[in-house]
Amino acid sequence: EKGTFRHFMEKEIFEAPRAMMDTLADRLSVTPVLPELDRSVHGRPPVVAFVACGTSWHAALLGRAFLEQAGIPAFVEIASEFRYRKLLLPPGSWVIGISQSGETADTIGAMESARRAGFLTLGISNVPGSSLERECDLCLLTHAGPEIGVASTKAFQAQVALLMMLSLALGEGSPRTDLADALIRAPHRLELFLESLSPESLDARVERLRESRLVMFAGRGLDYPLALEGALKFKEITYRPADGYPGGELKHGPIALIEPGVTVIAPLVDRLLRAKEISNLREIRARGGYVLAVGPNVVKEGHGIWYDDRIELPDDPPWSGIYQAAGVLQLLAYRVASALGNDVDQPRNLAKSVTVE
Ligand code: F6R
Repeated sequence: EKGTFRHFMEKEIFEAPRAMMDTLADRLSVTPVLPELDRSVHGRPPVVAFVACGTSWHAALLGRAFLEQAGIPAFVEIASEFRYRKLLLPPGSWVIGISQSGETADTIGAMESARRAGFLTLGISNVPGSSLERECDLCLLTHAGPEIGVASTKAFQAQVALLMMLSLALGEGSPRTDLADALIRAPHRLELFLESLSPESLDARVERLRESRLVMFAGRGLDYPLALEGALKFKEITYRPADGYPGGELKHGPIALIEPGVTVIAPLVDRLLRAKEISNLREIRARGGYVLAVGPNVVKEGHGIWYDDRIELPDDPPWSGIYQAAGVLQLLAYRVASALGNDVDQPRNLAKSVTVE
């Protein structure tokens, strides 16, 4: 079943374009078509609260950014925290629960309390007929196909694509055809990019990460959820300490960790915040940290040298880089973990779906 791949995780990283394509298929032309959501019945949410765990929570953080672009206020909460909070959302709010498996107890519990409080509940799941689907008023399915590797990969890109589409569907006024167009092209762009990354081109990076005392991930705006996701993927399969930070927070504490031997991986796909991100990375380099920049046009930006190494992403329309950067972070974690001889598909202490609280 793994074909020419050594692990399910590796196979699933390369299946992300197909996962996105199948998730978008029939639902997106110039305008999104989501028959599950009837605007005349459900209207437009005054506020959205996302709840999720782990990688799905990172997808939700991106979903918040997309909805904000569409003019809809959005909040994101970790499901295990949300379910014990006082639900003081405005009447008519939607609560959107995201879960690849659709069986995560905390996410289902959070949706249950949202439903009891009278909010419209919308589930986003990758498994038809899942408990999440049964629990929610409405459900949108990602069609990423079965994900066997415990570390989530292609499901993440499929969730993000679906959230992008949802924000286009809920946006007010004329549809954002530029974003719809970029989204339609994104799976194929990701496919071309993943094919262009030769395994050897990552060898030296994998070696450096393996030798690093500490690996940190930093990003702002759209790059912040990517930094969190890069760190989660890295720590859960390499068993090495790794954390993701908002770039602007580094100087409030984490920068004390920077010294030679520390590597900071910086996803750089948020064009609006690029200059700010570069100035955070300069501070890291000045303290002896090694900066690996992952983004489009890295070589062209900033005065002087602000990175030690770069993985260039194609110069694609805004938002396409999210999928490519996610693919790079997944692959780096995968390669380091397999170089360490870890059981990549079944990392220690973890289960594919966490059905207990
Ligand atoms: C990380 C990972 C976990 C899951 C989390 C939620 O790679 O796989 O963090 O994302 O357990 O799982 P779902 O999305 O099934 O609710």
